[in-house]
Amino acid sequence: MTQVQLITGARVATMAAPDGYGLIEDAAIAIDGETIAWVGSSEDLPADFANADPLRLDGRLVTPALIDCHTHIVHGGHRAREFEMRLEGASYEEIARAGGGIVSTVEATRAADEPTLLAAALTRADALIAEGVSVIEVKSGYGLDIETELRMLRAARAIEKHRPVRIVTSFLGAHAVPKSTDADAYIDDICLPALVAAHTEGLVDAVDGFCEGIAFSPDQIARVFDRAKALGLPVKLHAEQLSHLGGTALAARYHALSADHVEYATEDDAIALAQSGSVAVLLPGAFYTLHETQKPPVDAFRSHGVPMAVATDWNPGSSPMGSLLLAMNMACTLFGLTPAEALTGTTRNAARALGLTDCGTIAPGRRADLAIWDVEEPAELAYRIGVNPLHARIFGGQG
Ligand code: NIG
Ligand code: FE
Repeated sequence: MTQVQLITGARVATMAAPDGYGLIEDAAIAIDGETIAWVGSSEDLPADFANADPLRLDGRLVTPALIDCHTHIVHGGHRAREFEMRLEGASYEEIARAGGGIVSTVEATRAADEPTLLAAALTRADALIAEGVSVIEVKSGYGLDIETELRMLRAARAIEKHRPVRIVTSFLGAHAVPKSTDADAYIDDICLPALVAAHTEGLVDAVDGFCEGIAFSPDQIARVFDRAKALGLPVKLHAEQLSHLGGTALAARYHALSADHVEYATEDDAIALAQSGSVAVLLPGAFYTLHETQKPPVDAFRSHGVPMAVATDWNPGSSPMGSLLLAMNMACTLFGLTPAEALTGTTRNAARALGLTDCGTIAPGRRADLAIWDVEEPAELAYRIGVNPLHARIFGGQG
């Protein structure tokens, strides 16, 4: 990789304006090391930044590099048989209650050693990087025992030693109740000790949970969140995906970074998220895969000023989707986001959903994580289906 110091002839969507793309025509971006030093119209470029050999972009679009703020890319096995079962009429909940679903991925993940988990995760990370992604959130949650939860998080952390990408981890011990275990006993005896052990090893950036009839109640999640807070860790939650259980309000009470899925969230939930400053992370891949019909309350999120992010939720069951661009397309077509909201959702608001303040927009002082696209209009990024127009990606100033 080579050091990039000056970009000229770009059309830049800074994503730094309150609404829309924050477009600058005929723009230049000056980069100092890993950081953006200046961005603006080429004619205003300060002489100090002029460079004899700029990277000339011939009008190509530059955006912040994309951020996938909700994935489960560390896991063993696949669930193609479950896909067939759903097509034969079984629901996600029926499959889960019959011992399939998350619990079947748990078996495959427990059987995989760390190099095996890492190798599979690198292949998945590569697909995202090829679409201009610079930050990937990765969850545990397919171990459900202390050893495997730690192994998943170690594999997640190892991704960034092998690829030019930034990994943000979430501990998701409260993802499913292991077979023949009581949920409360699981929280006390496995989940909380696993969280403490993972935190002690520096493996946890945030704490997540799955608040659902087939997983954990709000009271059980609250116990996990209390421990997270005691450890000084931020929280987030899979909430209101299949039913309304009060997870979103709970997440808001704990000032969660985000509430994710939120199809069954209400207007009151939207108000609570707005007050807590939490992001609503929309996951259209799971909605699509599970043939769901209840859409997230996008109008309420808009009217109450809840920031919306968009992510792949890449996992082997409910969202076997390795494309963030496709998630943006689906967020528009299935949930009614505008293409500008979808791009905000995979840049500025995705950074916010991860508690990151140094990326997600193109502005002086932010990391030089950029995506250069062979498109004319920013709306083209969400418009096509299965087309990847990435020209190049710059990661920390290196292209
Ligand atoms: O985000 N909702 C819970 N967790 C995942 C599904 C995981 C799985 O089915 O393996 C999700 O959709
Ligand atoms: Fe998920």
